[in-house]
Amino acid sequence: MSERSTQKSTSLRSTVVHAGHSKAEQGQPFAHSPVFASTFHHSGEVDNQHYQYGRFHNPGWAALEQGLGELEQGSAIIFPSGMAASAAVTTALLESGDTLLLAADGYQPTITYAKTFLQKFGVKVKTAPTLAIPEQDFSGIKLVFIETPSNPLLDVIDIQQLADKVHAANGILAVDNTTLTPLGQQPLLLGADISMCSDTKALNGHSDVVFGHVATNRADLFDAMALWRKLAGNIPGPMETWLVHRGLASLDMRLERMTTNAQAIAEYLQQHHKVKAIRYPGLISDPSFEIASRQMHNFGFIISFDLGEQAHAEQFLQQAKMIVEATSFGGMHTMAERRARWGVDDVSSGLIRLSVGCEKLEDILQDIEQAL
Ligand SMILES: Cc1ncc(COP(=O)(O)O)c(C=O)c1O
Repeated sequence: MSERSTQKSTSLRSTVVHAGHSKAEQGQPFAHSPVFASTFHHSGEVDNQHYQYGRFHNPGWAALEQGLGELEQGSAIIFPSGMAASAAVTTALLESGDTLLLAADGYQPTITYAKTFLQKFGVKVKTAPTLAIPEQDFSGIKLVFIETPSNPLLDVIDIQQLADKVHAANGILAVDNTTLTPLGQQPLLLGADISMCSDTKALNGHSDVVFGHVATNRADLFDAMALWRKLAGNIPGPMETWLVHRGLASLDMRLERMTTNAQAIAEYLQQHHKVKAIRYPGLISDPSFEIASRQMHNFGFIISFDLGEQAHAEQFLQQAKMIVEATSFGGMHTMAERRARWGVDDVSSGLIRLSVGCEKLEDILQDIEQAL
């Protein structure tokens, strides 16, 4: 990691514990509680200084958005899922005749959403593989939406360089930062206009809430996405908001354990004779290592490794005792799945995506060893 990113992550690592919590008052609770309210007492002329109605705002949203904004170095808007957050970006910012460029190997429902619900209103949808995106001609492209590291193959592209190119063509750059969270990478500081995250994954981290957020430094983009949330009614519940805020405080601790575990497991898998190929940005031999070292605060907790054949991958998943077979990532529990089972990813049939959790390293290694 560069000195610059180490310094940033050091201060961020304390910020995350306190994010969104105001200074404790004498005799007041230290922690937030969820505020269950559909409406608030609001007399006289309508003003925007006080809470009015539960679809417009909620004190718990305000606290979490303040905390996420501190981490993202921008203004945050929360949503009831990562897909609602990504739909806010594309739906609120594009209009008929605009062109949207998506990563072909990015999260597939984002592409399906654009082709199903935006194309019919005249938005042109283009895709290109993550590694080919920096070489595209950006003239006439309104919004570029990438995911770095990509998932599950963990390709990494230079956000700063891409932002310069997109901005030179008057476009907007949005980064899906789900695999790293704002503690692992800060897209806005690297020049992106929007940072988006499925907080269902590591940010909440306990595999019990579906949630998402966006952050931006541009007032026009913020206003459009906030208005979309309010008018589409795509709002998070107070309980989920509180759970995510509670989970956020331990994000650094969890990531520290998960990423340290992941590095050791990747090094183990790399030398195992049954592993035909492996991707982890923290391996010096990995094509993503150089850019990842510059722009990421850690190398993440996702490893993709190929056991050559579907039968071998399935056998690994069945033999695993502690590792849970599941389609998500970023939780406390180590999870794995054969990605090609969804039939949409352009990945080999023996590829396993491993999301390394917080268990003791030796126990995860032992489980992997016996399953292999
Ligand atoms: C990279 C990425 N972006 C967005 C999403 C969508 O998030 P959610 O499932 O919270 O709607 C996911 C979910 O898996 C994801 O992996």
